[in-house]
Amino acid sequence: MSTMRRIGLLGCGNIGNIIVTHRSGLQIESLYDIIPKRAHELSLVCGARVHEDFNTFVADTIDLVVEAASVQAVREFAIPVLHKGKDLVVLSVGALSDSAFYHAVEQTARDHACRVYIPSGAVAGLDNAKVGRFARIDRLLLKTTKSPKSLGIAAEERRLVFKGKANECIKEFPRNVNVSVALSLAAGKEVDVELWADPSADRIVHEIQIEGEFGEISICVRNLPSPDNPATSYLAALSILTLLHSLEDPIVVGT
Ligand SMILES: NC(=O)c1ccc[n+]([C@@H]2O[C@H](COP(=O)([O-])OP(=O)(O)OC[C@H]3O[C@@H](n4cnc5c(N)ncnc54)[C@H](O)[C@@H]3O)[C@@H](O)[C@H]2O)c1
Repeated sequence: MSTMRRIGLLGCGNIGNIIVTHRSGLQIESLYDIIPKRAHELSLVCGARVHEDFNTFVADTIDLVVEAASVQAVREFAIPVLHKGKDLVVLSVGALSDSAFYHAVEQTARDHACRVYIPSGAVAGLDNAKVGRFARIDRLLLKTTKSPKSLGIAAEERRLVFKGKANECIKEFPRNVNVSVALSLAAGKEVDVELWADPSADRIVHEIQIEGEFGEISICVRNLPSPDNPATSYLAALSILTLLHSLEDPIVVGT
């Protein structure tokens, strides 16, 4: 019989709030945010213990840390979490685009028999993109369309604002990295990215094309914002909840 994992939430902002709001069936035990007031507010909702210090948070009786904070938090805390023998869910996956850091995280997880989970987030298709690790992939393209406002630029009409490798895109648009990094990590191959600004876009659209020895995959995801948090794609938030629930499932669907 599997026992339910005790969760520590690192980051109590938009996503943290959604996780806590939909916590039914999950065991959220402790909370930490660099802004303690945010952790206290979530504690009032779910009754979890608040820590104002990362070291006491990570030493608490938790099995799994869900990072919903920032790239900086992953850089700072991922390895200490794994050193304590806790599994880790990483949402700010952009931190793992640094390959030296990625390998350090991988090795620490191995050394401590822990796992690092990266949710599908705002896209679909990471499952079978993983065939790229052992089967030939000739083309791996991510075409993302966002409103100019969410890209922090001005545009009067639809225009291409970036075309190139995911690694370069991160440098120019650091707030738009999660999907391209997650897809690159899944496939084991760097993604070609096209980023389009469209003033008429009322959704964030991610189009993925994969061609390889298996044939072709085309995926189009048109994301609505979260009902309470326009900055967060609702699918990304739901994806985290799905991952947390599936960790407890005796039967696992999808690769
Ligand atoms: N993987 C995905 O598909 C996906 C989707 C959406 C968001 N994200 C990422 O998840 C993270 C959280 O998103 P959000 O919308 O909840 O952001 P948010 O800004 O609303 O909340 C982040 C919270 O984390 C706290 N925080 C930041 N740095 C911290 C640190 N070093 N230590 C402790 N607390 C810290 C902040 O005070 C804030 O309360 C972001 O990095 C975002 O890019 C990933």
